[in-house]
Amino acid sequence: MKKISILTFSGLLILGVTSFSKTQVLKVAFNQSENHPQYKVLKDFGDKLEAQTNGNYKLEISPNALLGDQRATTELVQNGIIQMSVVGNPVVENFSKNFAIISLPYIYDSLDHQKSVFTSGVLDELFKSVSKNGFQVVGAFTAGSRCVYTNKPIEKPEDLKGYKIRVMQSDTMKKMLDYMGGIGTPMAQSEVYTAVQQGVLEGGENNEVTYMDLKHYEISPYFSYTNHLMVPDLIIINESIYSKMDTKDRETFDKLMKEAIEQEFVEWNENVKTAKKVAIENGAKFVDVDIKPFQEKVKPLQDAVINSSDITKELYKKIRALAN
Ligand code: GCU
Repeated sequence: MKKISILTFSGLLILGVTSFSKTQVLKVAFNQSENHPQYKVLKDFGDKLEAQTNGNYKLEISPNALLGDQRATTELVQNGIIQMSVVGNPVVENFSKNFAIISLPYIYDSLDHQKSVFTSGVLDELFKSVSKNGFQVVGAFTAGSRCVYTNKPIEKPEDLKGYKIRVMQSDTMKKMLDYMGGIGTPMAQSEVYTAVQQGVLEGGENNEVTYMDLKHYEISPYFSYTNHLMVPDLIIINESIYSKMDTKDRETFDKLMKEAIEQEFVEWNENVKTAKKVAIENGAKFVDVDIKPFQEKVKPLQDAVINSSDITKELYKKIRALAN
């Protein structure tokens, strides 16, 4: 009797250990704070994933760039040291130039337009195309509309003359700011505050949520609505982790990711309102801008990116066809 119960007990223990070790933890790098709408949506995604895969997968999110900037965390995902990250589209553009088309200046007319593009499936092929690099793009979050901020209103391209403005780390981003009239200066997001404070830069460009979250209003109080970019944030996952998921779990993962992407658009709108309010309370000035002169200036860049390959030409048509 005693023997049996010991056997049963050890059997249960083994079972317990097996089911425990079966849980695959997906470590996610995130370079913004826990208040960011993408963090909230990812957390919810993780809770549902764990429940709906019966504990096979679990998310562990590290916010505030604790695991490094977006370039560094992409490498960690490629090497399988961590499993997932959220990275700005320009980071992935460094692996495939075709990605430049989805953060082309002025390609989206509105958040609704961008939402139709992200949820329509037109980007699936593009996303799969980078998998040979050891990671897969599983979806895109909105990060709103980006605008220039500095120590004075920017109402026309000439206002940017001689101004070094931080841009995300890609060729297209640098060229874009140069065409807009300033000097595009690629840099990681976490370095911008100090760089402006020390006079290395005159300002940056970002959405209202990040502008507020990183307190950039303290160093660059004028936020001018140039609305020049709507850069997607891409959710990336280690290729072998993703391709080795069993079919049912992957279907659950994909379904929940689709829901998360839709939900993030809702959260985003709410957060922009709050972010703007907090920034104004802290002295920020929001300036309306006639965007036409800026649109004119970036036209050569738009033409170059659209015509850079058959894939970009095709995608441009598909994206514009979803505008209304
Ligand atoms: C946005 C975006 C981030 C990105 C950042 C940047 O905040 O959501 O993914 O890192 O801009 O300017 O680098």
